[in-house]
Parts: sequence; structure tokens; C-alpha cells
Amino acid sequence: MRQPKAILITGASSGIGEALARCYAAPRIFLALVGRDVERLAAVARACESRGARVATCTADVTHGAGLAAWIETIDQQEPLDLVIANAGVSGGTAGGGESAAQLRRIISINVDGVLNTVLPVIPRMVARGRGQIALMSSLASFRGFPGAPAYCASKALVRVWGESLRPDLAQKGVQVSVICPGYVVSRMTAANDFPMPLLMPADRAAAIIRRGLARNKARIAFPWPIYALTRLIAALPAGLIEPLLARLPRKR
Ligand SMILES: NC(=O)c1ccc[n+]([C@@H]2O[C@H](COP(=O)([O-])OP(=O)(O)OC[C@H]3O[C@@H](n4cnc5c(N)ncnc54)[C@H](OP(=O)(O)O)[C@@H]3O)[C@@H](O)[C@H]2O)c1
Repeated sequence: MRQPKAILITGASSGIGEALARCYAAPRIFLALVGRDVERLAAVARACESRGARVATCTADVTHGAGLAAWIETIDQQEPLDLVIANAGVSGGTAGGGESAAQLRRIISINVDGVLNTVLPVIPRMVARGRGQIALMSSLASFRGFPGAPAYCASKALVRVWGESLRPDLAQKGVQVSVICPGYVVSRMTAANDFPMPLLMPADRAAAIIRRGLARNKARIAFPWPIYALTRLIAALPAGLIEPLLARLPRKR
């Protein structure tokens, strides 16, 4: 969609979600912003309002489906949403002891259920209107299981593949679906990494790339291209060849 006027973004209180909110903020734009941290979300809302946007905020956990659905439906009745960006997500630190069952379930719950809780309430409403756009935040980590981040890779693979499957079905009903697969982007999530992150990108640059990709209704918005190409190559190589190399990659603390 070239010029969405009513946009919902989850995970808008920091990082890529915050950068997207600021990027879209302008006069005659309505932003519905979701996050958990009250103060950070309010600061983003103020920044967007100062650029002329109208803003509604919801301090909610995306895993609480019923409450989130009720808010999204109310917002959509008042301001029919043109674009919904299901961005909220977490990663885990798995160095040493592996991934605890609790951590695995938390990552899947936020990254998968949180995305479904965000978009399922709006799909029937967009289909009824015969227009709308849905953007699902995946990752370049979705193209292969990488050691040190099993739940994260699996959650992002599910989101990407689900979105890619959904796209042709919903296109027939006038609703566009794109999946977003960034490499390393500066955010609270990557601030926790104490290893070199090749081609680490500022969040505002990532937001500009995402906005451009969504305006062109790209099926997959994957960037930066050298890391995308490398990831696809790694995914294509036989496990016996690539596993010894992957085993040496640094992991989250
Ligand atoms: N940064 C990267 O290199 C990178 C690369 C590929 C994909 N991604 C994806 O991009 C998305 C945004 O991450 P980021 O890098 O911008 O990290 P971030 O700065 O940590 O932002 C994460 C956002 O998600 C929100 N969030 C997390 N859990 C939530 C929950 N249960 N309910 C509601 N909101 C929740 C956070 O809200 P609060 O802070 O208010 O809790 C925050 O606004 C994630 O899906 C991530 O997997 C990031």
C-alpha cells in the first residue's frame, strides 16, 4: 500500500517498531502503537504527535490475546486500519546450558502467538473491506536453524512461512501480506550481543527499507542483501559441510 493512513505497530516502544512509528508519523496519519513499557511507549507517542500524527497507545502484552483483540477491534471500528505491522518479539540467550523449557515457551509464545494475536483480529475485517496490508516481522534467522537460538529461529521460520502461504490466499481478497527479514539492526535486542554483528544497521535505516518494501507490496523484505545472500547459501549447503562452521559461531550470552 503506497500511502497507508491508519497503521498499527506492535513492539513500538523501542528498536525497529519505534523507528517504524517515527518513520510513518506525519500529519493526517493515525498510529495505533502497542508495547509493554508505559514510559517508553508514551515517549514514542509524543515524538510521533510532534510530527503531526494522531496516536493511540495500548500498553499490552501481545500474548494476552483477548485483551489485545478487543483493543484492535475497537481501534479498527474507529479508524479502519490500512496497515498492521506485527513486530513485537524477543530473542533468548542460550550460551552454555542450552535453552530452558520456560525460555523456549516464552519465545514461541511472544514471537508466534503474539503475531497471531495481532493479525487474526484484523484479517476478517480487512477481507470484508477488500483492502488492507499485513506485515509480519520474521528475520534472516528464519532461513536455517542456527546453534544458540533454536526457539528464535523456529519462531521466525514459522512466521515467515505462514506469511508466505497466507499471501496468495489473501491477495485474492484484496489484502496484501509481506514478511520482513532483517539482518542485524541496532536495538535493545542486539545491544545484548557481545560479538561482532556484520553490517549492523541503524533502526531508522531499517525502517526506511521496510516502508519502501511495503509500499511496493514486496512478498519478502530481506536485508541487507550480502547477509541475506550468505544466509541463503548457508541454508543450501549440506549439514555435514556447514555444521562444523556454525558450531564455531558466537552465541548470545
Ligand atoms: N534487531 C535485530 O537485529 C533484528 C533482526 C531481525 C528481526 N528482528 C525482529 O524485530 C522485532 C523488533 O525487535 P527489536 O530488534 O526492535 O528489539 P527491541 O528493541 O527489544 O524491541 C522489541 C519490541 O517488542 C516489544 N515486546 C516484546 N515482547 C512483548 C510482549 N510480550 N508484548 C508486547 N510487546 C512486546 C517490546 O516492548 P517493551 O520493550 O515495551 O516490552 C519492544 O517494543 C522482533 O520481532 C525481532 O525478532 C530484529
